[in-house]
Amino acid sequence: MSVFHELARFGVVPVIVLDRAEDALPLADALIAGGLPLAEITLRTPQALAGLAEIARHRPAMLVGAGTVLTEDQVHEAKAAGARFALSPGIDPLVLTEAQGAGLPFAPGIATATEVQMALRAGCEMVKFFPAVPAGGIALLKSIAAPYVHTGLGYNPTGGVTAETLGDWLALPQVRAVGGTWIATQADIATGAWEAIAHKARAAVDLVTR
Ligand code: 3PG
Repeated sequence: MSVFHELARFGVVPVIVLDRAEDALPLADALIAGGLPLAEITLRTPQALAGLAEIARHRPAMLVGAGTVLTEDQVHEAKAAGARFALSPGIDPLVLTEAQGAGLPFAPGIATATEVQMALRAGCEMVKFFPAVPAGGIALLKSIAAPYVHTGLGYNPTGGVTAETLGDWLALPQVRAVGGTWIATQADIATGAWEAIAHKARAAVDLVTR
């Protein structure tokens, strides 16, 4: 099973901004306790890679990937840290080629038909639809996805998705999983709100009806 199929089984991806590597394992444990052993650790903070590596090394039950992967070097750093997949808010053919060479499944970001076609040309199986709500929400994704249904491309809407709208997004057959920071916000992590994170993870899992 491809890693994006595994991700689709969960239907929802916690998007994580990690300020301190030492929060990585308690965070992973909270997500595991909530029945959602999955995380996209965004490479936006100096300690993100170290935190990702901690999770990959010490919590093998977690499906952990890297988000906000912007450069060829980050492809290799993410892979070396143990990322099983990678995503980006945008699409960069050079980064995609590097990820392919490194054997790191990569979902680039798209918000236009042109970007979908770039992803298809690069052989992508899944794309991040970003920023999902400000870009035009479900109506825009429906229109963008329609010409490419026969390709089987899957979408991961992220940016403005909430527990309240998760079900509407997942009702679209092309949407494999939504992403969002609401399950474990930067503030939740900074304040060690592990029970709240576990609770929100469980609530999100319960909303995924497939
Ligand atoms: C991302 O970091 O991929 C998105 O900005 C997450 O958006 P959200 O904070 O609206 O969930």
